[in-house]
Amino acid sequence: MGYGEFTSLINDYSNEIRKFIERGSSFTVFCHIDADGLSSGAIASVMLLRERAPFIVRAARSIDDILEAIPHFPKDSIIILTDIGSGYLDILREKFQDKTFIILDHHQPEGEPGKNWIHINPHLCGVDGAREVSSSGVAYLVAKAVSEENISLSPVAVVGALGDLQDKSSEKRELGGLNKLIVEDAVRSGLLKVSDDLLFYGRSYRPIHLALASTTSPYIPGISGSEAHAVSFLNSLKIKLKEDDRWRVFAELDEEEKKTIYNGLMKYITSLNFPPSIVKELIGKVYELTKEEDWTPLKDAREFASLLNACGKTGNEWLGIAIAMGSRGELLLQAQKTLEEYKRKLSEILDFLIRKENWQELKHIIAIDGGTTIDERMVSSASSILSSSELLPEDKPLIMLATSGDKVKASARASIKLIRKGLNLGLVMRKAAERVNGTGGGHDVAAGAEIPLAKKTMFLAEVDTIVGEMLSG
Ligand code: C5P
Repeated sequence: MGYGEFTSLINDYSNEIRKFIERGSSFTVFCHIDADGLSSGAIASVMLLRERAPFIVRAARSIDDILEAIPHFPKDSIIILTDIGSGYLDILREKFQDKTFIILDHHQPEGEPGKNWIHINPHLCGVDGAREVSSSGVAYLVAKAVSEENISLSPVAVVGALGDLQDKSSEKRELGGLNKLIVEDAVRSGLLKVSDDLLFYGRSYRPIHLALASTTSPYIPGISGSEAHAVSFLNSLKIKLKEDDRWRVFAELDEEEKKTIYNGLMKYITSLNFPPSIVKELIGKVYELTKEEDWTPLKDAREFASLLNACGKTGNEWLGIAIAMGSRGELLLQAQKTLEEYKRKLSEILDFLIRKENWQELKHIIAIDGGTTIDERMVSSASSILSSSELLPEDKPLIMLATSGDKVKASARASIKLIRKGLNLGLVMRKAAERVNGTGGGHDVAAGAEIPLAKKTMFLAEVDTIVGEMLSG
């Protein structure tokens, strides 16, 4: 079990996909709405486009969207699911026995696929889908096996993996596992440049103080989201913000200045009694898309992922898919505006979330209920930022909730320490959601659920109990 087996699974299935295309089949692609979902949907779409296969692509917020939509699409169309589906095999099989599915996913599989379906998932071959390869990576490896020309899509697979926060393979923020092989494809093709640096947001095009204030991964209390505090912090370190009349950007600072900022942040964070590991999270690999313009968020693969995420979480999924497929110009300007607005909203939400009075500490979990104050589409990004901020205790997972109509969206995140102790949030969310007539699933470190509003309290109690059981072995 491992990469060899996974590669041969991909090669075998890619031959079958090629046969479907040669037979003139049409396809309906459904992709999930986060950065990895939109990237994987775009990769599958470009693959089909290049083979001149007829297809429709559409984003889906949840499995329910897909179950509802399938009957409205052409009957004989082959359905490709990217970044969603592996966790819901039984439901799909029971509802759509007569359909052919191609599932390209990295979530923990649950149930059995139908006969003659193509189900490609790293977990089936003992490869860790939460950390070693994302759905975009899976879609990329399939596209590459269908045609070598699709190596040009390797940077999009890197964007998807970073969108799913898979850059955790070493002490530094870096992609490892199969993702590293994809990075190598992209570097060899001259499409990606990898370097070591401090990971400030907008490092190649934002004025330094704005880059610092816009950085939320890691979340720097007091500075993230506050331009005024960022300016006064940089002034206190005597960092020159302007050169003549022009704002300087982070990428042009010299090593000495970068060191001054890093050490200054370290001092600032420890003076507030936060752990130094927050600042260490700033060190990592920068993945730059060499063919993109310096002044756009597409230059830096992490920012590209933020842009896709913003499109996906604001009802502009189509825009994200178009950008990931290669559209620029007017569409890119529109996507950039969406990103700015999304980041502004997110920093407002984070202000609410970091206040401890909004947390409920249960026996085994920390719950934060945003009610209707927080847009349910922002919960997932907010919980990722908060869980990587080191503001929360490491020994309890975070469950964040937001209400929309009569449904509640839950987003759960756990530390690696808890995973090593045996916690699997994907299982927790699935079991707890099932007990209250909802749906849930995901990865060991990050999972989600959708449940009825009336069962919210019961759901949290179930999550607390199941987490307690898992952690006690
Ligand atoms: O929604 P959120 O980002 O918190 O979800 C974390 C992970 O769990 C994502 O990869 C998402 O696709 C997955 N998930 C799932 N089933 C759900 C909700 C989320 O597999 N019902």
